[in-house]
Amino acid sequence: MDRIRIIGGRPLNGTIPISGAKNATLPLMIASLLTKETLILDNVPRLADVALLQRILGNHGVDVTVGGKRAGETADHGQTLHISAAHIVDTTAPYELVTKMRASFWVLAPLVARMGQARVSLPGGCAIGTRPVDFLIMAMERLGAQIEIDAGYVVAKAPKGLKGSEIVFPKVTVGGTHTAIMAASLADGTTVIENAAREPEIVDVADCLNKMGARISGTGTGRIVVEGVAGLNGARHSVLPDRIETGTYAMAVAMAGGDILLQNARPELLQTALDLMQASGVQVTPTNQGIRIARNESELAPIEVTTAPFPAFPTDLQAQLMALMTRARGTSHIVETVFENRFMHVQELVRLGARIHLEGERATIEGVERLKGAPVMATDLRASVSLVIAALAAEGETIVNRVYHLDRGFERLEDKLSRCGAAIERLSG
Ligand code: EPU
Repeated sequence: MDRIRIIGGRPLNGTIPISGAKNATLPLMIASLLTKETLILDNVPRLADVALLQRILGNHGVDVTVGGKRAGETADHGQTLHISAAHIVDTTAPYELVTKMRASFWVLAPLVARMGQARVSLPGGCAIGTRPVDFLIMAMERLGAQIEIDAGYVVAKAPKGLKGSEIVFPKVTVGGTHTAIMAASLADGTTVIENAAREPEIVDVADCLNKMGARISGTGTGRIVVEGVAGLNGARHSVLPDRIETGTYAMAVAMAGGDILLQNARPELLQTALDLMQASGVQVTPTNQGIRIARNESELAPIEVTTAPFPAFPTDLQAQLMALMTRARGTSHIVETVFENRFMHVQELVRLGARIHLEGERATIEGVERLKGAPVMATDLRASVSLVIAALAAEGETIVNRVYHLDRGFERLEDKLSRCGAAIERLSG
């Protein structure tokens, strides 16, 4: 199993290219199931989760080919995928695959919408919370699918097709909103989705679906309207930049000190996080190439923040912000309201010398003078990368174990950071 070795204390200077968003790429790839024609996706990040979803879609009969490099292209450019679901040969998504990546459960919606049936394994538990799929099932039922749970599988049928309806989510859900939009696109009639997720990745997927011939309006607001169409065509779409990767590297620079251009980053995708960092004393400058983040010798001020759905501060940056706040001058508070168990990084940060006290969903972080390197590990990708951030400012050597978590969501992390002066390397085996 690979590990990452970091010697802390070096500032970061230079340019970090921001990749296409993982959490847009995955539903975009799944949306390919809605059409017989080819969907071409540009700016796709090279991630373990993308490769795994390729395999999962392959099981349904989907052909995915990676486009060849064009002149002048480097590893900093995303890849181009040509995805063809001309022949769906299997509407079952098996347990062994769905448990490896929860988002693959979302194949339920396009399979039922296009094929009238699907058998998709329930994903089971997760390291960051219970993460049920009841709202996704409710959305499919509202659209007329008959659903049974059989031997750990969701068996959904809509032999005469789905029917437009009103779907009101009791709680904002990204996966629920993707499910509702994809299924409603091929339903008969109009669907109104209330309390919809407003995340930029929802907007990106709907933009692509509209290029494919769907009629979706209101994305980016809490009320989305989908007029169903009889069929969808192929299209070409470029994945939007990853706001969580952007925020992660912004916090890495804030932690280590230095001056970095986050190339291709778009400030409006993470304005709340950028405002908060600025309030803490980090320089944030939007430029026409991306976002510049800088911190010199200045101290970090503590913060108070609560995670919540977009446009509030994202849960996917909570662990990274906590790592940063371990070095603030004073006491910070972070309340996690999206996932009930997303604090697995806390005890690992404590191993590096952080002072963090947990009470239910509220973490109190007392800033310390220094962190000291140690071997650490984490159970999900955002928690793992928070340890990398802490290690960049810790004295001496930190070994981050279980690097496969990082590989799921961060493209060439050690390469991007070492090019900017970090002492970071991957130890294989
Ligand atoms: N929820 C339910 N029932 C449901 C669905 C959700 O109770 O049927 C609850 C969840 O347990 C959670 C809340 O609703 O408490 C929000 O969950 P949501 O459905 O929004 O999460 P998701 O769609 O499963 C996506 C991202 C996550 C990100 C969350 C929140 C992808 C592939 N995953 O998950 O990303 O944290 O939205 O923004 O888009 C990550 O990338 O590290 C990651 C975990």
